Amino acid sequence: MRKIGILTSGGDCSGMNAAIRSAVRSGLRNNVEMVGFRKGYVGLMKPDYITLDSKAVSGILHRGGTFLQSARSPEFRTIEGQQQALANLKNLGVEGLIILGGDGSLTGALALHNLGFPVIGIPASIDNDIPFTDMALGVDTALNNIIYAVDCIKDTASSHARAFVIEVMGRNSGYLASISAIAAGAEYALVPERDFDLSEICQQLRARYEEGRDNAIIILAEGAGNAHQIADSIKDAIGFETRVTVLGHYQRGGAPTVFDRLLASRLGKNAVDLLLKGEKGLMVGLSNNSIITTSLEDVVKGEKKPHDEMLRLAEVLGI
Ligand code: F6P
Repeated sequence: MRKIGILTSGGDCSGMNAAIRSAVRSGLRNNVEMVGFRKGYVGLMKPDYITLDSKAVSGILHRGGTFLQSARSPEFRTIEGQQQALANLKNLGVEGLIILGGDGSLTGALALHNLGFPVIGIPASIDNDIPFTDMALGVDTALNNIIYAVDCIKDTASSHARAFVIEVMGRNSGYLASISAIAAGAEYALVPERDFDLSEICQQLRARYEEGRDNAIIILAEGAGNAHQIADSIKDAIGFETRVTVLGHYQRGGAPTVFDRLLASRLGKNAVDLLLKGEKGLMVGLSNNSIITTSLEDVVKGEKKPHDEMLRLAEVLGI
């Protein structure tokens, strides 16, 4: 294989740059020309691309986001968009493509594979909702961002004897909420994977304040309810001041953690190795600290296993 393309698609996350750097350096070491498409599938359809030499990827390992930029592209969901991308890849002499992104982006990768183009996917989404990988890129950094914010909020919450509802991202997944609630010592994690009874929570919160505790942290997964409505119900029921903090896109940025830098470096190199071996239509992932591959078809059809052990742990810890 003489030329490999790489793109980042969907919501960005920390670790994307580190994965691009690793893939580029692995490709160059094997005398493969590397090109990066800008803004995900948008750049593939235009085409909008840059040549990636070793210098182009220096100084990016520690930076959050993606220097190739990212986008969500409804046009690429159409067969016309996919055919346009395919024609551009052929004209440019690109023989393989590495795609970083979440479930929507990997569905796009499968579409290209089904049209006969060699593709390898890398799971990258803070939601950690992609099946066949224990962790996706960006999850660990997002969790660390959340923990930092919750610790700060806890300080001010206790100074004012307030309850806080802190909304975290995750789309339909409660992974970020349950893990951060465990790691930050929150009182509750409200997640889509587990039913909750708000009136029972309010009773427990009231008892908590009566016992003399000076704060309560409720971490809400964005897919589990409306933060302001929940905060209003809590305030009315317990009679204590309640505030809402929506952490939003803060969670997605920042320097990647060691875990994300290492995972990104492993996945980037492995993606190139697979293409050079003639493998295609696969996603590289992490299982029991080993790099594994799964067909993109299984990834797209599959469902992420609920994080049952963590949910049980949360219960035992009274969350
Ligand atoms: O999928 C990643 C994610 O950050 C979700 O957690 C969130 O719901 C969504 O993307 C936000 O999308 P956007 O950046 O387009 O607002």
